[in-house]
Amino acid sequence: MYKTSIRISVLACALAAATLALAGDDPGHERHELMEGVRDAAKPVGAMMKGEADYDQATLMTSLETFASAADQLGGLFPDGSEGGEAAPAIWEDRAGFEAAIAEWQDVTAAAIAANPATLDDAKPVVGPVFGACKNCHDSYRIEEE
Ligand code: HEC
Repeated sequence: MYKTSIRISVLACALAAATLALAGDDPGHERHELMEGVRDAAKPVGAMMKGEADYDQATLMTSLETFASAADQLGGLFPDGSEGGEAAPAIWEDRAGFEAAIAEWQDVTAAAIAANPATLDDAKPVVGPVFGACKNCHDSYRIEEE
């Protein structure tokens, strides 16, 4: 009993530290890292959709979960005063529109997860809107540097 509660409080500390790291004072760096994770998750999915890699349902589902988690975190990473980088001024000028773009991404990602597509033909119609949401948001809210 005693040991268990020590273990739980160690875990609670680790969780608190992780939360602090997420809410750190360099949101520009955090959203860059978050989107790099999204990019890495998107790569294998893009290859499958183009037929360059065999369809793998588990890989797709893992990537969709990464998108869902990123979408949940994204809105909190653009506080006032963190303007700059690839983040377009429109995020601060039209916060409602930006939040709507996040919500759209959450919705289509949740729908694709719920569909749990077993084949490439099943996946295409639900994954298409997920990538559409990336482009849709980037068109208005991201300044591409490359
Ligand atoms: C709701 C808006 C939104 C959605 C949806 C979105 N992104 Fe982004 N993305 C951004 C913003 C804003 C930035 C710039 C962040 C910054 O650098 O501050 C960005 C940056 C990126 C970058 C550059 C990372 C870096 O900083 O080097 C990549 C790659 C990227 N996004 C991929 C994706 C992919 C792939 C998807 C869909 C699966 C996606 N994004 C969905 C808003 C979005």
